[in-house]
Amino acid sequence: MTESSILLIPPSGILQIPALTDYFQQPFQQSIPQTVSQTNPQSIEQSVSLNFAPITLSLVIPTYNEAKNIHRLVQQLAQLLDQKLPKNYELIVVDDDSPDRTWEIAQTLVHEYPQLRVMRRQQERGLSTAVIRGWQVARGEVIGVIDGDLQHPPEVLLQLLAAIQGGADLAVASRHVEGGGVSDWSPTRRFLSRGAQFLGLLILPRVVGRVSDPMSGYFMLRRSAIAGQILSPVGYKILLEVIGRGNIETIAEVGYVFQERLEGESKVTWKQYVEYLRHLTRLRLSGKLSRLRQHLNWPIGRFMRFGLVGLSGVFVDMAVFYLLSDPSALNWALTRSKIIAAEVAIINNFLWNDRWTFGDLSSKQQGWRKRIKRLVKFNLICLGGLILNVLLLNLLFNAFGLNRYVANLIAIAAVTLWNFWLNLKLSWRVTDTKS
Ligand code: GDD
Ligand code: MN
Repeated sequence: MTESSILLIPPSGILQIPALTDYFQQPFQQSIPQTVSQTNPQSIEQSVSLNFAPITLSLVIPTYNEAKNIHRLVQQLAQLLDQKLPKNYELIVVDDDSPDRTWEIAQTLVHEYPQLRVMRRQQERGLSTAVIRGWQVARGEVIGVIDGDLQHPPEVLLQLLAAIQGGADLAVASRHVEGGGVSDWSPTRRFLSRGAQFLGLLILPRVVGRVSDPMSGYFMLRRSAIAGQILSPVGYKILLEVIGRGNIETIAEVGYVFQERLEGESKVTWKQYVEYLRHLTRLRLSGKLSRLRQHLNWPIGRFMRFGLVGLSGVFVDMAVFYLLSDPSALNWALTRSKIIAAEVAIINNFLWNDRWTFGDLSSKQQGWRKRIKRLVKFNLICLGGLILNVLLLNLLFNAFGLNRYVANLIAIAAVTLWNFWLNLKLSWRVTDTKS
């Protein structure tokens, strides 16, 4: 069995790059391909020592049908990096099971280029996710990406690396700064590329506006700037995902000329443009949500649970109100029935909130005395909410002349926020004082 059969096991699950410390705490089998252990113990030692030391640079090469390009690219990169970072870099080819078996050709190169690692993905497909899967198994403090078709000139890597070592969090090879350009792109492709950039500036200015070439697929970044973030790119534009979700403070740009493709063909179709729009929207929404969360530090998940419990309270309220006040049932007085129904609903909501919505908090405040205390606070806040509800309803209906049902809905929404916020801050407030 030759070494050439070494393949990396593609990670699965969420797209999240482990911090270097976490990476090296993972059980080492993950990065040691099965085949090695079945061959000679000597190669295990070699691969163990190889796999357990952080290195400076991990460069991912996403490939799909690049059989004619991969050898020359690996050769050029190894030549360059063997001088600059001897034994201190790795090239990670991530191939999506190319019909032209690019992965197999890359595999045969491993014995000649010990810094080369190859991943063959058979379950997943897509440029951006391929890059992230490669970064997930990377051992570098600096992680980067370069296309597998020699359209990105390898020598620019050294300038990108120098920029990172000079303090930048992200270094981007750009076609739109001094020294940058494209060899001979058709006016249509230029228009489409610039058009896409313009659209990006409209939809996502805070991200797209930070670099001159947001479409660039050639860049490197400090691993710590993106480690731990949950990524969810769509399509081609991995750089947008990095800027949109990473902690990127300083960005450096290096001009480069996008070369003509000599072998194979571009995989860009109209589908990539649709995915680009979806990606922009997704980042825009998640940006908004996370800013909202930051501003308000609003625990959305907990609020959703609180809302659901509130909804169950409406049903309980209605059911008890029916049983007590309906002429076909106990036919009690309206107000008395309403007050009892509201109180039963409040107790229902309290029990569910104490167990579910705020379960993690109440579990830190065990004992009946504390529970009763929470129930009393919850009750008072909800009663306050009831008063606020009536006041708001009257204000909106009488003072602003709003439709009674719209006014009631607004009042309910406002009171739900009031109840949630005050109960989070008061009823389920975790104090470390022993009362
Ligand atoms: N693993 C994997 N899976 N690799 C892929 C896939 C895929 O589904 N699709 C494309 N690739 C690889 C290609 O094999 C190539 O190595 C690289 O990703 C870029 O793909 P191309 O199809 O050659 O893209 P392009 O040249 O038209 O556009 C490139 O340059 C643009 C300008 O910088 C890409 O990098 C674009 O992202 C970039 O905007
Ligand atoms: Mn290309």
